[in-house]
Amino acid sequence: MDEKKITTKTFRKMKKFGEKISMLTAYDYPTGLILDQAGIDSILVGDSAGMVVLGDQNTLSITMENMLYHTKCVSKAVKRALVIADMPFLTYKITVPEAVKNAGRFIQEGGASAVKIEGGEEVCKIVRAMIFADIPVMGHIGLTPQAVNKLGGYSMQGKKPESVEYLLRSAKALEDAGAFSIVLENIPALLAKEITGKIQIPTIGIGAGPYCDGQVLVLHDILGFYADESPKFAKKYIDLNKIIFNAVKQYSSEIKTKKFPSKKYFIK
Ligand code: KIV
Repeated sequence: MDEKKITTKTFRKMKKFGEKISMLTAYDYPTGLILDQAGIDSILVGDSAGMVVLGDQNTLSITMENMLYHTKCVSKAVKRALVIADMPFLTYKITVPEAVKNAGRFIQEGGASAVKIEGGEEVCKIVRAMIFADIPVMGHIGLTPQAVNKLGGYSMQGKKPESVEYLLRSAKALEDAGAFSIVLENIPALLAKEITGKIQIPTIGIGAGPYCDGQVLVLHDILGFYADESPKFAKKYIDLNKIIFNAVKQYSSEIKTKKFPSKKYFIK
């Protein structure tokens, strides 16, 4: 699936033909551009922006306006990938009409092609209302970071029998409600395999092992943007923190030592 614009329909086709779906988060124009040109299938404008871009402790403080801003920046850059906007905490669980209205803003103002909401069987009525309004919805179950206070931390889900049952029921309920795909976050690989085998819509894993139909990671984790440890499941492909740090140090030192700007960089 190299050339054509990726849609929610393409996602389903990719699952059918066993082609893995690649997804990364992005929050601004330049990274949206690079990711799209590099051929990533889908870009999630995640509420992880609160943590990796805005410096918050969790994803609970980021607002509709913040997320709309980031979504617009990414959408402007992207030609091929499917852009999915993550709905922030408390923007879709108060009332159904408010949820649909907020979701619609991500499509109409943000330029996204779909939204993502966290939660299992209990959010299905919201999913149905969004689909009725022609807004494609991605589900997100397992570790749902917006529920960090209810869950008591960021621990793995789907280990106890009642949690396994809830996740299996939720995946099926989300599919029946019309979700086009589901993120499975931080659950055992064999449970992710079972869920993936039981539904027709693609599962996108993060810390959920190799059997999902696709994988998503936070861009700043794979680029090593921060010096501190990223989650165990996040592979670091480059140590950008060190590269940027060294470049800035060199630039600063060259100004002090009058090495920059040298002849090449100015006109007499
Ligand atoms: O906000 C986010 O980045 C996410 C993904 C990590 C799934 O929800």
